[in-house]
Amino acid sequence: MDWGLKNRLSGIIKAQNNRALMLAIDHGYFLGPTEKLENPKKVIAPLLKYCDSLMVTRGVQRTCVPNSTDVPMVLRVSGGASIIGEDLSQEDITVSIKDAVRLNASALAMSIFVGSKYEHKSIVNLGKLVNDAEEFGIPVLAVTAVGKELGKDARYLSLACRIAAEQGAHIVKTYYCDNFEKVVESCPVPIIVAGGKKISELDALRLTYNAIKGGAVGVDMGRNIWQSEYPVAMIRAVRSIVHGNATVEQAYKLYQTLQSEKPQFKSNTPNQTKPQFKSNTPNQTKPQFKSNTPNQTKPQSKPVENKPKPTTDSSKPNKPIKSNN
Ligand code: R5P
Repeated sequence: MDWGLKNRLSGIIKAQNNRALMLAIDHGYFLGPTEKLENPKKVIAPLLKYCDSLMVTRGVQRTCVPNSTDVPMVLRVSGGASIIGEDLSQEDITVSIKDAVRLNASALAMSIFVGSKYEHKSIVNLGKLVNDAEEFGIPVLAVTAVGKELGKDARYLSLACRIAAEQGAHIVKTYYCDNFEKVVESCPVPIIVAGGKKISELDALRLTYNAIKGGAVGVDMGRNIWQSEYPVAMIRAVRSIVHGNATVEQAYKLYQTLQSEKPQFKSNTPNQTKPQFKSNTPNQTKPQFKSNTPNQTKPQSKPVENKPKPTTDSSKPNKPIKSNN
């Protein structure tokens, strides 16, 4: 593996503990102004320093993320479908590798739709994206999107994750499920777990804990952070599990304690209700963002890490990508 690619990966999955906390805010690429993410700039500002990397589209990166940040950008480069369109699996690559380099992307992310109508296209696109990205030393994160008709079980997710890894993805994002260990075992590259639709804070912390215990390197969490009433408290609680080995109980206690801290970031749309758009094709293949919140397992004994990530974190990649990358 090329030095540059390894270096970028180490900004996303921290070398010291092989863990990752990715903040997902790319939902607008097919959902438009997702509930509580209507103003990405306001959402990102208080959360950025608590994540290891940010999963983002180029439009939001350019307009809403300060260019002085040293947080690695995981750039979504696929799109082309919308929640009101015919088929969410009909995606293509929408960002050129040159633009990704201009945006100093630390990784490129795209969805694959295994078992869906456009399976072939998305898998071939993944292979092509890896070809392009490897030339520039940029890792690729494959997102295993799951359609409604497909179960989010270990059998299906193992299939999707393995296919992504076989195509050369350097990280695979998938969902937590029963027998999650089997998904991890059969995937030769690191797995990161999506948060899924909003559930209670306690359940989201359980999901985080169990995913890591099952072998995931961490979480790529969106709605369960910025749709929380206390997003900063929530990301810090998630972080205490990912990087501090906190138990669910410790992390939840931290979440409760931090709610009283000022300034606290609350939703910018407290009265907003649901939903944006509903699909006109209910049976189509689309990501469901379901979460799995399996039983909490036994607690660990290590202390909670609840302090913000130091801005001098030496593990952060802060070197710009050279023009020949
Ligand atoms: C979906 O559009 C994206 O891939 C999200 O980044 C992913 O689903 C993680 O976000 P959440 O935790 O809200 O599921």
